[in-house]
Amino acid sequence: MLNDRLLACAEYVRGDVVCDVGTDHAQLLVYLLQKNLIQKAIACDIKEKPLQAARKNISQAGQQERTEFFLSDGLQNVPEKNITDIVIAGMGGEMIVHILENSSFSLEHKTLIFQPMSKAEILRKWLYLHGFEIMQEKCIPDKQFLYAVMQVKKTNIFRNPEIEEIYFGKMNLHFPESEAYAKRVIQQLKKANFHETAERSAIIQQLERKLHENSTRNLSGN
Ligand SMILES: C[S@@+](CC[C@H](N)C(=O)[O-])C[C@H]1O[C@@H](n2cnc3c(N)ncnc32)[C@H](O)[C@@H]1O
Repeated sequence: MLNDRLLACAEYVRGDVVCDVGTDHAQLLVYLLQKNLIQKAIACDIKEKPLQAARKNISQAGQQERTEFFLSDGLQNVPEKNITDIVIAGMGGEMIVHILENSSFSLEHKTLIFQPMSKAEILRKWLYLHGFEIMQEKCIPDKQFLYAVMQVKKTNIFRNPEIEEIYFGKMNLHFPESEAYAKRVIQQLKKANFHETAERSAIIQQLERKLHENSTRNLSGN
């Protein structure tokens, strides 16, 4: 059974040909193929060992006919084929940015699904500055962690995001897990290991205001 984090990624898939970057065990692809939610899978990883694990699991699931494998740093050695969706899960936000910056093909007209393990704010800021839009985002609790999972499109609208878009993304703060995510973000910013600056205080204040507005709206039932 797929864990909640990867299940949330699977739920954001919209097309028939899914490329899973940093696939490792390929559990997500096995799930999508076995449930017939997609026609074809492209599994890629930067390391041979995880790619071997992917081959083994895909083959055990009887899905090798419908899967292609690539040893690749991100999308650099992956042909575009008819990829409809790209999933990049289980990596830091900076690594996801590196992969997007170095893609060998255009990311337009594809559904992009990202699940950063850390530095989600770096990824979100980069996305808005580079003409992408977060369409949907949710928080998935797993053990003591709260993971962000986002569905993204290239819109070619390049803009400077608001502070709350960078730190809270598109999460609906009415959901308790998203509110918990927002509180944790603020907590981490407060104890971040760098000198107190006017800029950081302003960021924290703005995020706290946004969170407060949200809880007041909840209380008044609006
Ligand atoms: C923690 S695993 C995540 C596996 C799976 N995507 C998941 O979310 O459960 C990270 C995988 O990404 C691969 N990886 C790291 N950097 C990569 C890159 N630049 N390009 C492709 N794969 C990469 C690693 O080799 C590893 O197999």
